[in-house]
Amino acid sequence: MTAAEPLPIDARKQAAAMAALELVEDGMQLGLGTGSTVEHLLAAIAARGLDVSGVPTSEATEAYCRELGIRLLHPSEVERLDLAIDGADELDRALTATKGGGGALLREKVVAAMAERFVVIATTDKLIDRLGDGFPLPIEVVPFAEAPVTRRLRDRGYEVRLRTAGEGPAVVTDNGNHLLDARMVGGIEDPAVEELWIAALPGVVECGLFVDLVDQALLADEQGRVLSLEPEPS
Ligand code: 5RP
Repeated sequence: MTAAEPLPIDARKQAAAMAALELVEDGMQLGLGTGSTVEHLLAAIAARGLDVSGVPTSEATEAYCRELGIRLLHPSEVERLDLAIDGADELDRALTATKGGGGALLREKVVAAMAERFVVIATTDKLIDRLGDGFPLPIEVVPFAEAPVTRRLRDRGYEVRLRTAGEGPAVVTDNGNHLLDARMVGGIEDPAVEELWIAALPGVVECGLFVDLVDQALLADEQGRVLSLEPEPS
């Protein structure tokens, strides 16, 4: 018997999104993540005609929701969200995630922290042992502080690059800031310690480590089967 052909990556993202769709109920106020995996979810919410509203985590998600007719909320209009669903760049067995590959980490973290339940949708290849090596950690900084923050990160052992649009200028986030992509060779030893250390650097707005925020991960494997994971103690 020959092994089945692996599904294309986009079909796997769709499978994870479809699993998350089963968690969405009429009347819910949602946190609406950013990225290609979440786009499948948003399209499915609209196609199913679910009566939900949500806080978008980026201008891109906001624009797509408008196109789809999904009702939008501002964080000031809601005390708690029933459920937030978002993608991730990497996550470990404790379900600590790195996010911000799409540059939306700040609003993503605000929204995740507003939710009763935060669910990550992704593919199984994003589950790794140590964060910060394969996929550099995105850090949002005010442009004025870019150089001193870069120096402090380098002193701590990170390889740091300012995110640019190709050979062009620095990427500007939805909040008017810049992004540093910080790689730690061998991975980050203790993400909780690192999140606090990075957050304490003057000029850092937020970093893409999501510690103790993810309640569940729905991860699609190469055959489109979806594994449901809950945090393992680290
Ligand atoms: C955006 C993010 C995304 O959730 C992350 O980059 C995953 O994206 P995709 O679903 O396209 O793989 O953190 O800031």
